[in-house]
Amino acid sequence: MQVGLKIWRYDAKTGDRALKEYEITAPEEATLLDCLDIVKDRHDGSLAYRKSCRMMICGSCGMRMDGGAVLACKTRMYEIAQAGHVPVISAMGNLPIVKDLVVDMEPFWQKMRAVDPYLRPRYDQAQERENVVSQPQMDVIHKESLCINCGCCVSECNSMESDPDFLGPAALAKGMRFVGDPRDGATIERLERYSEPHGLWDCTRCYFCNERCPKGVDPRDAIAKLGAEAMKNGIDRDMGARHAKWFVTSAKTTGWLRETELVPKTQGIIASIKEVKFAMGLAVKGKVPPPFPPHVAADVHESRALFDLVKAQGRDGAAGIVQGERALGRIEAHHEAAGGRDPYNEPDSAPRPFLPSEREESEGVAAT
Ligand code: SF4
Ligand code: SF4
Ligand code: FES
Repeated sequence: MQVGLKIWRYDAKTGDRALKEYEITAPEEATLLDCLDIVKDRHDGSLAYRKSCRMMICGSCGMRMDGGAVLACKTRMYEIAQAGHVPVISAMGNLPIVKDLVVDMEPFWQKMRAVDPYLRPRYDQAQERENVVSQPQMDVIHKESLCINCGCCVSECNSMESDPDFLGPAALAKGMRFVGDPRDGATIERLERYSEPHGLWDCTRCYFCNERCPKGVDPRDAIAKLGAEAMKNGIDRDMGARHAKWFVTSAKTTGWLRETELVPKTQGIIASIKEVKFAMGLAVKGKVPPPFPPHVAADVHESRALFDLVKAQGRDGAAGIVQGERALGRIEAHHEAAGGRDPYNEPDSAPRPFLPSEREESEGVAAT
């Protein structure tokens, strides 16, 4: 097949930057990484990019295609080439570019080091023969354990773009990997540290990290688990934690979000006084309902019962997020079984992944 690629070339030493177009011949099963190999071998030996395993394990080949982070060795080019599309390939975002598609990963590793990415055991010796982690305990950190340190999530993180000191999705997911590990003895210390400024509460919940992670780690979900664990353990000094806490208190007591009290409950009384003029302006326009008496929903007992159930089952930490993920998974599965939406068959949807043998089967082409 013929494959067109536009590649952003860059040299940090000279500052030279140019978008170069290449037209190559590649096998139909070629990935983006295979195509880059062909460019380098046959067209331009000066092209720089990273690779090692070629099978989605080492995390070396993260880059951007049409503005979104991908693993080059996971990205099949057949559908793209068939559509006549010429994708733009560039280096990952939020990391300094060294040359062409190669970024300096040192800031990434700095953040990783900052979360102590290793087990700090709470025992001196293994109990009996080994410390067994049960399946429900493993479920909490299963996804986080799949990370290959590729940096695709960091590349897409909006918070890191505005605050380079933000710990970021990969490091926080790694932190959850150990906060959720029952063998680790530094849980509270970790949660305290991750809750500091530039920590877990600075995530804007844009979910781009979940969308782009090639291994299904879902870093945003890991950050949600950290937040839930922090609040469960009473670590709620950060404004983000107080904000989330008020949502729960408000829903439990009235069945509604009492918005008028949200600012003082989140920012504290002193900081809220500065907002009085703004609040008065809103009140004049009828945008601030009086806080007293609070409006209580007719079925408030339902939200109170839900709160009590979560507490009684011990699901007010990461376990609750895991339960939610599973419930969503089941809903999606049933929805699809009932002939619901096909995510690969909508306008602007990504091409459906396939193996060459599947195409041969569906088109009746004999495998060679
Ligand atoms: S959800 Fe949070 S961590 Fe993930 S990309 Fe968005 S801001 Fe970054
Ligand atoms: S969380 Fe996903 S995208 Fe981020 S570094 Fe790990 S594997 Fe890569
Ligand atoms: S080359 Fe190892 S993940 Fe792509």
